[in-house]
Amino acid sequence: MRRKIVVGNWKMNNTIAESETLAAEVVAALGENFSGCEVGIAPTFLALEAAGRIIEGSEVQLVAQNCHYENDGAFTGEVSARMLFAAGCSSVIIGHSERRQYFGETNATVNLRTKKALSEGLNVILCVGETLEQRESGVTDAIISSQVREGLDGISDISSIVIAYEPVWAIGTGKTASSAQAEEVHLHIRTLVTELYGDDAAQGLRIQYGGSVKPSNAAELFAMPNIDGGLIGGASLNAADFAAIITAASL
Ligand code: PGA
Repeated sequence: MRRKIVVGNWKMNNTIAESETLAAEVVAALGENFSGCEVGIAPTFLALEAAGRIIEGSEVQLVAQNCHYENDGAFTGEVSARMLFAAGCSSVIIGHSERRQYFGETNATVNLRTKKALSEGLNVILCVGETLEQRESGVTDAIISSQVREGLDGISDISSIVIAYEPVWAIGTGKTASSAQAEEVHLHIRTLVTELYGDDAAQGLRIQYGGSVKPSNAAELFAMPNIDGGLIGGASLNAADFAAIITAASL
C-alpha cells in the first residue's frame, strides 16, 4: 500500500512573515501526532529557512520549488540542491509546468536537475503534464511518456522520486481533470514505469495529481487506484482548505 503524499506548492506567494504564519497554521490544523499521510509545504526560497523553523518537530516536511543542476558557481539567480539540503529541505519540485512554460525548462534540464537533487540527498517531485492543445490533438500519452522517459534518463533508482501529473490546462484554471481522466494518465505512467523499472519499483512509485485540487474534489481524485496524493497550488495558500485536502488523502 503506497502512503499518500500531499504537498502545498506556494509558488511566488507570501513574504517571509506571511510564510511563517501560514506554516504555523498548517501545523496547528494538522494537530499533534498527525500521521494520516505524508505532508510537505513548498515556500519560496527566501522563506524556506523561516518556514522550516516553524514546522520543525512536526510531521510537515520542507520542500523547495526548484533547484539548479550545479552545486555552485556563476549562475545568477539560481539556488543549488546542496544549498537546499543544508537549509533543511527534504524534497524539491522539478519541472513544474510554469518552469517549463516561462523559464525555458526542458526535459533535458529537468533530468540534470533531478540527478543533481538525488545525488545531494533530496527527494524529487518530478512534474509532467500536457497542454490543452496537446490533449485536444490526441498526443497526451506520447507527451507524458517522453517527459517521464527523458526526465528519468540515466537514473537507475527511482525510490526517492514522486511523479506529479499536472495537466497544464487544469493548473490555476479551476478546471480539474475528472478523476477518470486523471486516473487514465496515472495508469499510463505506472505502466510505462513498469516497462522501464519493473513491477516492484512501479508499484512503489507514488504518482500525485495536481491541477485545481480543492476540498470539494480531493476525495474523489484520491480514491482512484493510481492517484497517490496531490500537488496543491491555490488551495494550499489557505490552511483550512489545505488541511481538508490532507484529510481527504488520509482516509
Ligand atoms: P493549482 O496548482 O492547484 O493552483 O491548480 C497546482 C500546481 O501548479 O502545482
